[in-house]
Amino acid sequence: MTIQVKGARLLRSRIISTGSYVPERVITNFDLEKMVDTSDEWITERTGIKERRIADETQAASDLAYEAAKVALKNADLKIEDIDLIIVATVTGDMPFPSTACILQDKLGAKKAVAFDINAACSGFLYSLYVADSLIKSKMHKRVLIVGTEVLSKITDWDDRTTCVLFGDGAGAAIIEPTEEDRGIISMHINSDGSLWELLHMPGGGSRNPVSKDSLKKRLHYIKMKGNETFKVAVRTLEDLVVRTLEENKLEPSQLSLLIPHQANLRIIQATADRLGIPIDKVIVNLDRYGNTSAASIPIALDEAVRTGRIRDGDYILLEAFGGGLTWASALIKW
Ligand code: ACO
Repeated sequence: MTIQVKGARLLRSRIISTGSYVPERVITNFDLEKMVDTSDEWITERTGIKERRIADETQAASDLAYEAAKVALKNADLKIEDIDLIIVATVTGDMPFPSTACILQDKLGAKKAVAFDINAACSGFLYSLYVADSLIKSKMHKRVLIVGTEVLSKITDWDDRTTCVLFGDGAGAAIIEPTEEDRGIISMHINSDGSLWELLHMPGGGSRNPVSKDSLKKRLHYIKMKGNETFKVAVRTLEDLVVRTLEENKLEPSQLSLLIPHQANLRIIQATADRLGIPIDKVIVNLDRYGNTSAASIPIALDEAVRTGRIRDGDYILLEAFGGGLTWASALIKW
């Protein structure tokens, strides 16, 4: 609950611009048919994905993030000196340390900013938005660049048909600043349940299973996912989350102009929209073109919605995500 002192203006944060970048190389379901025992029909029916973008050998998470961030800065008509905080959400950072945010800071020449990463898998962008929103409202920071960036292709086991058909690479960015207008981030919910971390993880490369000949032989440096169990938790959790977000803000689903969900599976997206009773044409769906880009998926979809004129000033939009951790989050925004 927000307590407003009579006469005092309510300080909110708001997204003033967005940007995104996806690599040029496309891998279609038909390409995957030649790599593993799968079919375009199976992938389309079970996930809704038709193709995904894949980074080249030279591209790491900070390279994609840099491209997306440049667009967001340009769209906001800002210089990098105007940014005082950079948050990067990723599970595929350039290296275990330093943070990808620090590498991005260097690329952008952001000398006046402080930079750090957030790891919340597919919910990472919304976790970052939560932190940015809190730091702006508490007046700790004035203008924040947040970027979700992933090169999942580099931690994907291309021999494992149960995961390699799902993921793609990309980055999306947003710039957040304070506002006293009646708009911006209305409310955020972030959640986690660590008891379910094993449903979705990458076991190798950290201090639990450092890289060794043995860890490589056991393919521990690739994504492991119990897809079906994850699916069931995702549907249940997201249905509850979106309903709770609207109820707590006394908003009817019909008042929503747009739902921007994490792009993991069309069946999960459809179930969430059905639970709210909103038609699919009020939902941004681009996973057919990009697959699941984890922390990049929401900012890429948001940028697409902005660029194609699907969001107008005053619109209520709802962002929601679910991912490894397990983590899940929502953001209700008045644009
Ligand atoms: N091609 C053909 N058959 C396949 C493939 C494939 N690519 N993958 C699995 N199958 C087979 C399985 O082996 C299984 O065969 P069996 O019945 O003979 O054992 C059958 O298809 C059904 O497998 P399920 O795993 O039960 O399929 P399901 O309908 O659950 O779909 C999927 C799998 C798409 C992974 C789905 O469970 C899903 O989307 N899960 C959620 C993913 C998610 O939301 N993750 C969180 C975000 S990701 C992040 O945080 C990085």
